[in-house]
Amino acid sequence: MNQHIHFNAFHMNAPAHSWAGFWRHPRDRSVEHATLGYWTGLATTAERGLFDGVFLADVFGIYDTYGGNADATLLSAAQSPSHDPMLTVPAMALVTKHLGFGVTVNLTYEHPYAFARRFSTLDHLTGGRTGWNIVTGYLESAARGMGLDRAREHDERYAAGEDFLAAAYKLWEGSWAEGAVVRDRRIGQPYTDPSRIRRITHDGPFYRVDGFNLADPSPQRTPVLYQAGASGRGKAFAGKHAECVFLEGQTPAIVAAAARDIRQHAVDAGRASDDILLYLGATVVVARTSKEARELHAEYAQYVDTVGQLALISGWTGIDMAALGLDEPIRYVPSNALQSTVENLTRRAGRPITPRDMTRFDQIGGRGPFIVGDPREVADQLIAWIDETGVDGFNLRRLVMPESLEAFVDLVVPELQNRGRYRTSYADGTLREKLFAGRGPHLAGTHPGARYRTP
Ligand SMILES: Cc1cc2nc3c(=O)[nH]c(=O)nc-3n(C[C@H](O)[C@H](O)[C@H](O)COP(=O)(O)O)c2cc1C
Repeated sequence: MNQHIHFNAFHMNAPAHSWAGFWRHPRDRSVEHATLGYWTGLATTAERGLFDGVFLADVFGIYDTYGGNADATLLSAAQSPSHDPMLTVPAMALVTKHLGFGVTVNLTYEHPYAFARRFSTLDHLTGGRTGWNIVTGYLESAARGMGLDRAREHDERYAAGEDFLAAAYKLWEGSWAEGAVVRDRRIGQPYTDPSRIRRITHDGPFYRVDGFNLADPSPQRTPVLYQAGASGRGKAFAGKHAECVFLEGQTPAIVAAAARDIRQHAVDAGRASDDILLYLGATVVVARTSKEARELHAEYAQYVDTVGQLALISGWTGIDMAALGLDEPIRYVPSNALQSTVENLTRRAGRPITPRDMTRFDQIGGRGPFIVGDPREVADQLIAWIDETGVDGFNLRRLVMPESLEAFVDLVVPELQNRGRYRTSYADGTLREKLFAGRGPHLAGTHPGARYRTP
């Protein structure tokens, strides 16, 4: 196996993302996330590193599971304050040419009609470099904030996701035929040929639409679809709809099994196993020498905010870590939150996982590959994870910004290129064409969204 490795910069529009506390590091610039310059800097570096894209997480609502309130979250800036990710994209698109943008939007608080227009607009503005990370939310705080009594149950969220996607596919794929926009100044009208517009109707269990997409078709029509659910239900959903899947896993064996499972679901849904790119969440601390990298690791570790980290983990798992002793094992309990995260942690081979483990700046706390070393050591380990698990690449967790990303681009990228395991230039075309060489800008014919196309 010698395929090129894919990378996304995994980010969030908040002072802290996967690791709470780094905003206090003297060289960290995350507190500037509310400025455009922060995002244009990130995008420029990621494109210099020939990354597939910036993958923007977003969690709608606030983490208030730890201790039964949001105090620890607010004190530590654990994904709070949280700003809208989508609004950063046009600025990043303006300073880059090839970089993709995977934007998380929680569909539960959207309507397909307005949502389809927003993504069409973004795909136009980025020249077809947009992706949507399909999430349905898992926080009660968001439901309450949106005036609901409680959040939807786990499986119902996926059912609502199916319904939302059917409506969105109709709007993106079915309502404007190819050639509907004539737009020829010399002949004047029609700007748009009404006979090539189809009013679509959708009367589903969760959403109803009667109309056509308000925006004309963007370069990709449907944005590249990302997804990260990894429960049984989540993997079936990913196998059917996702083109890129983000997964976590503590050991190569766990990741390999999840990767096989997702690809099998794609095949069961009538797609090819390589219709999906799999990205594994990874933490990388790299420096010129092994010794410097270890020193940097020790330095960063001092800035991890233990309570902030527990507030995050409590929110992700739905388990109040404040109610557990720091050294008590975390046991799997069915929860309405991230079932996959709980399963992944509690099924790890070896000893039981404790709240204290989850705050450690290492592989267990990082919930997956945690690599510290010089460029050669990092490249060795990245390649080993790829070759042992069958995933396609990594979502690199944000650490101290921008220095950790710059170090990766300056040190690891050339090392992987020297080994023939990384691209040396971008392909042309939309994000979808860059990710899936030899294919077109639109959803593959075997994708379920394609059946809604206007003949
Ligand atoms: C690695 C990973 C990243 C995720 N990122 C987000 C996110 O940014 N925003 C969000 O609302 N949910 C996120 N989720 C939640 C999933 O989209 C999904 O709703 C959740 O995992 C519940 O489904 P599951 O039990 O099938 O995993 C993430 C889940 C995983 C495993």
